[in-house]
Amino acid sequence: MPGFELWGEEERKEVNDVLETGILMRYGFDGPRKGIWKSKELEQAICKTFGAGYAQLTSSGTSALTTAMAALGIGAGDEIIMPSFTFVASFEAVLSVGAIPVLVDVDQSLTLDPEAVRNAITHKTKCVMPVHMCGSMADLDALQTICDEHDLILLEDACQSIGATYKGKYVGTIGDAGTFSFDFVKTITCGEGGVVMTNNESVYKKCDEYSDHGHDHLGVDRGADLHPYLGYNYRISELHAAVGLAQINKLHKFLEIQKKNHTQLKNILSQIPEISFRTIPDPEGDSCTFVSWFLPTEEITRAVVAEMKAQNILAGNFYWYDNNWHYIRKWNHLKESASMHPFSPELKQALHENVNKDFSPSDAIMSRCISTSISLLWTEQQIQEKGEKMLASIRKVLRDSTVSK
Ligand SMILES: Cc1ncc(COP(=O)(O)O)c(C=O)c1O
Repeated sequence: MPGFELWGEEERKEVNDVLETGILMRYGFDGPRKGIWKSKELEQAICKTFGAGYAQLTSSGTSALTTAMAALGIGAGDEIIMPSFTFVASFEAVLSVGAIPVLVDVDQSLTLDPEAVRNAITHKTKCVMPVHMCGSMADLDALQTICDEHDLILLEDACQSIGATYKGKYVGTIGDAGTFSFDFVKTITCGEGGVVMTNNESVYKKCDEYSDHGHDHLGVDRGADLHPYLGYNYRISELHAAVGLAQINKLHKFLEIQKKNHTQLKNILSQIPEISFRTIPDPEGDSCTFVSWFLPTEEITRAVVAEMKAQNILAGNFYWYDNNWHYIRKWNHLKESASMHPFSPELKQALHENVNKDFSPSDAIMSRCISTSISLLWTEQQIQEKGEKMLASIRKVLRDSTVSK
């Protein structure tokens, strides 16, 4: 999914603008910065590109989630319903504001199963946080309906799905707030960075304050700013924002290439009738960072992974079921509340109950799933060769499994 693959002159030019003034901080220093405000410019570009009312840049996608939760008033004792398949950052952010991550099953969309969300609602539920995994989206209509019925906040973790749309709107701009990550391996990158988007001015204002030690940013003199709320330092630097500014101008080109390469590879894999593909609630809106596909059983899937490894073609293919970072099965640190600083007994107890559950519906899906990441650099011929090698490995395993029956 990486914008870093098409790095060039544009990024260097934006960074050099900042280096020439020497003002690497996004706030203040109005004189010496000579009119260079890369973070502000990138926030405006984000609003324009994605149709968000407001955008607040942060130092990472993780800090964007934390900032959004704080600004939405989510905290101690609140339950946030989130999926069993995501990156660890999603629950890290929940824990960072003292809230309780309530993990529930995913369906064939590899995102929140709306029925599982319904079943997990309690009087403590404050927020539903779909994670738009691997470039595609959750069923936002179904989740919005649930949130409306139960008066819950909808916070979209769209960190992995920059440029994906749902019914004509960009994911991350549909809920009460949404976030992107601009870390090094995202569709567009700042090196490190993130953003909170919202259409609610008061939520935006709080994000602006929270991510800069609570500064109200009303004065011209930074030292004289007041601090109505406590905050932290989750600021982005001008250097990182400069990189993002060059990258956002290339977003549509990246998406176009991704879609083209994705279509070609998916068509090749479709030749095998035993393969099925992830459900996409709005297929037009897939940002196409990955092709995610299923095999009939866990045993066959494991054998295909082993065969692709033996053929030296496993790179870029992810078997999330065994992955330490993306699926509940390997999150022992979370299951054991292995925090360096003590949690309150209430949080520890609630966490224990909510993560040490049966996730067999998720297991049944994730144990059969492989996601193939799409490169911007592939030629048509390379995709053809790659696809054919994948077909050969898959067919071999399917043949062997029929013979052994
Ligand atoms: C789903 C999801 N949420 C949050 C994050 C956190 O983003 P960052 O690495 O910028 O902190 C990531 C990063 O990979 C992610 O995949």
